[in-house]
Amino acid sequence: MALYNIDPTTLSVWGKLSDNYKATKELHLKELFAGNETRAEDLSLQWNDFLVDFSKNRISKETLELLFELAEEVKLGDAISKQFSGEHINQTENRAVLHTALRAKKTDAVLVDGVNVVPEVFKVKEHIKTFADSVVNGTRKGFTGKAFTDVVNIGIGGSDLGPAMVTEALKFYKNHLKVHFVSNVDGDHVHEVLKDLDPETTLFVVVSKTFTTQETLSNATTIKKWFLGHATQKDIAKHFAAVSTNTQAIAEFGIDAENVFPMWDWVGGRFSLWSAVGLSIALAVGFENFDALLSGANEMDEHFKTADFKGNIPVVLALISVWYNNFYGAETEAIIPYTQYLSRFSAYLQQGIMESNGKSVDRNGNRVGYQTGTIIWGEPGTNSQHAFFQLIHQGTKIIPADFIGFKHALHGDTDHHNKLMANFFAQTEALMNGKTPDEVRSELKAKGMEEAAMDKLVPFKVFEGNKPTNTILIDKLTPRSLGSLIALYEHKIFVQGVIWNIFSYDQWGVELGKQLAGNILKDIQGSKIGDHDGSTLRLLQSFKD
Ligand code: F6P
Repeated sequence: MALYNIDPTTLSVWGKLSDNYKATKELHLKELFAGNETRAEDLSLQWNDFLVDFSKNRISKETLELLFELAEEVKLGDAISKQFSGEHINQTENRAVLHTALRAKKTDAVLVDGVNVVPEVFKVKEHIKTFADSVVNGTRKGFTGKAFTDVVNIGIGGSDLGPAMVTEALKFYKNHLKVHFVSNVDGDHVHEVLKDLDPETTLFVVVSKTFTTQETLSNATTIKKWFLGHATQKDIAKHFAAVSTNTQAIAEFGIDAENVFPMWDWVGGRFSLWSAVGLSIALAVGFENFDALLSGANEMDEHFKTADFKGNIPVVLALISVWYNNFYGAETEAIIPYTQYLSRFSAYLQQGIMESNGKSVDRNGNRVGYQTGTIIWGEPGTNSQHAFFQLIHQGTKIIPADFIGFKHALHGDTDHHNKLMANFFAQTEALMNGKTPDEVRSELKAKGMEEAAMDKLVPFKVFEGNKPTNTILIDKLTPRSLGSLIALYEHKIFVQGVIWNIFSYDQWGVELGKQLAGNILKDIQGSKIGDHDGSTLRLLQSFKD
């Protein structure tokens, strides 16, 4: 059964939210806190080792009530159960959406078109385990009998970003294998990676759900050629593995059937790190850690499926994001992790969020009359503070931000960690409270500044504050907590897509550029340039000169 098809702006609650926005938009967060002594407790959720504080948002009690009403009216509960039960909610591709089945428990049953897919998922997990174990413990050898030292993941988009982000995030838990990622079709990328590699001790994992992606096939072909410069055709079986739904194309590429890991069309590329697409994660940190990542995600799945909306972290964060996006007109959201390990987290979420909800057509095929997907960006704190925080603090735009921090540092350097976390807490406090002209004046006075000079300087040193943030405070960055954190954002994506009445699981918008690149490549390689607009034609001529 399809998802309901409801234009949220036609619901009476949408009008009520609009009125609520008009009535509360001038309120300062400081007033909201002053008016409710228990605001921090009321507007936060404790779940496992996650404390999610959403009290520093420009929402009143009534706003929240209305947002929950919105979730009810768009039939979010129905959508959640349809997703988890394998309905074909990816209607434009006629597919189920079941990345959650990849982290299901062995005893669970998840039906896709009447077939329980959990046994098949576990069969592949077992294959990942035996393969990864044999590479990590050195029993699997390269063509000259040496153990592997390096792994290269060849993939792009969801076949790169997830494994690359997680491998970096879990670096602390890494074994001796050095894992590299080649994604861009830019030959300088692949050759830069290859230049330091030893063909005798390098394992290549070609990851492509479709096995038709130009970037991945070009990189895999270049690498195969490089490898065959040092080895023979039969050695490919020892050095190449592949992950794909397209087993025939893998066989044609020459990869040994033993080293092929299937995936399924009910797993979207950007949600696929939990499948064999995560093979390079299992290689980097060992299968047990990979499995713990999956368990953490499964725990978040259970929370999302069973908690009522008021206590449901992905639902609450999604609703708050809709509030800013659709009523405040916020265009972007910043994601600021206070750990260097999560340096690729916002890049990863850019694909997850923007490829999913970057849609302008609703489920009827009509252009939407409201804003949909947010623009996602961010970098780790404290580096981001010294780069773009100026604009968040004193610019003209409203930028809701998620701050993600951990109570414990992995290397146990308390001195550094206290400084890091002092910044973490200080930023959300500063963004909320700001600094009034009176506060600025008294600071300057204390420094002995003259009144006249003070008058000139004060406006520049004032911070309006009232900038919204969510704080996600987690005990420690572990495979398990990381799994939960990623799953949290996955579910937030889904909730927002349901509210906006769009299809979150297709990505037709990436096709046109691919198509045109195919035509232009012929123009570049051939003797004549075909029909183009004046600008493109001139640029192509200049490139070919
Ligand atoms: O960029 C579009 C896209 O289809 C993504 O959704 C996907 O993650 C990526 O290309 C890679 O696709 P594949 O895994 O099929 O090579």
